[in-house]
Amino acid sequence: MTTREIGVVMNGVTGRMGYNQHLVRSILAIRAQGGVTLSDGSRVVPEPILVGRSEHKLRVIADRHGLTRWTTDLDTALSDPKAPIYFDAQATQVRGKAVLSAIAAGKHIYCEKPVADTFTGAMELARAARDAGVKNGVVMDKVYLPGLRKLRRLVDGGFFGRILSIRGEFGYWVFEGDWQPAQRPSWNYRVQDGGGITLDMFCHWNYVLEEIAGRVEAVYARAVTHIPRRWDEEGNPYDATADDASYAIFELTGGVIAQINSSWCVRVHRDELVEFQVDGTEGSAVAGLRECRIQHRGGTPKAVWNPDLPVTERFRDQWQPVPNNAEFDNGFKAEWEEFLRHCLDDAPFKYDFLAAARGVQLAELGLKSSNEGRRIVVPEVAL
Ligand SMILES: NC(=O)c1ccc[n+]([C@@H]2O[C@H](COP(=O)([O-])OP(=O)(O)OC[C@H]3O[C@@H](n4cnc5c(N)ncnc54)[C@H](O)[C@@H]3O)[C@@H](O)[C@H]2O)c1
Repeated sequence: MTTREIGVVMNGVTGRMGYNQHLVRSILAIRAQGGVTLSDGSRVVPEPILVGRSEHKLRVIADRHGLTRWTTDLDTALSDPKAPIYFDAQATQVRGKAVLSAIAAGKHIYCEKPVADTFTGAMELARAARDAGVKNGVVMDKVYLPGLRKLRRLVDGGFFGRILSIRGEFGYWVFEGDWQPAQRPSWNYRVQDGGGITLDMFCHWNYVLEEIAGRVEAVYARAVTHIPRRWDEEGNPYDATADDASYAIFELTGGVIAQINSSWCVRVHRDELVEFQVDGTEGSAVAGLRECRIQHRGGTPKAVWNPDLPVTERFRDQWQPVPNNAEFDNGFKAEWEEFLRHCLDDAPFKYDFLAAARGVQLAELGLKSSNEGRRIVVPEVAL
């Protein structure tokens, strides 16, 4: 069995996602397990080439993990013929330029979501990748979560009958940054820096809804900035110009209605930070990041509305856990492995730039709906 190394140019690894999920939990974990196996039995081991703006930060990360290849010059990294893949986890607004350079250098491209901060920008990248004939993919990590994989399994097994509706709750309290430091980067709360929960989360909800039930055909959303003043990483106050909560209704193929609340201004009274309830004619399920519980038609209690009596049943106890029945690896790593096989072995990969552009389109139309106070039809997109 042969083993070969390939370079992966990784830009934005000094950031939260680039470092934790992509460098440490994905690429270094794949290296540690001896790479990925291709269909001919050979193995490919990715070697990260770190790119960033700060020499100091790159050197610290490289030293910590025994890596030798890093640079502050993207073009130098892109000129390496032994590195066929470019990855980008930079702040969203600076991604497009770097991705276009990487496409021009003939690299296959994988990047964080949103692929771009405008639908026009996302389509420009999708078309550039298609014209150059390079493989392309975007992180769509939520569908790799154990809870959502179990949900998908229920859909595939016909558990729900006809799906009627989906309700999703996402969010938690993000500290303002004054008396306790905020747990998310401050750019998320400034629209001029690419922030906003609608842009951040609707590109996730688009592929999650496509995966569970179907295409989003129309959206009504109300995006708001509940907390207009926050404190940044240096403790300085700033105007929070971006939306920090978004309340939306999505109409899906086949008449399925999905409602999803996304908020950084909500205190968690749930089992997980995101939960989706799917109700179907034959049964219902509630899925979170890891767990999924079901209630079949045959096990549905006859709830009767009577406010004069105390509740006699423990409704949560009437649900049955869905077993794992499989090992679930880190979702980011699992998607990386699929993307590497897509690039090096032509394996199928459905989360491409066009799929990502649909997510950005939904975010843009969600904000338009909010601004205009009306339901907006989502046109189908094609390259
Ligand atoms: N898949 C997910 O669930 C998920 C979750 C959070 C963030 N993200 C996405 O990942 C990307 C990075 O987010 P993060 O939370 O890691 O942010 P972060 O602020 O921690 O990291 C941003 C990175 O971009 C780099 N950068 C380069 N040029 C920059 C510039 N001009 N301004 C600011 N930063 C610049 C920074 O040095 C840093 O490495 C964003 O596109 C974000 O939408 C995805």
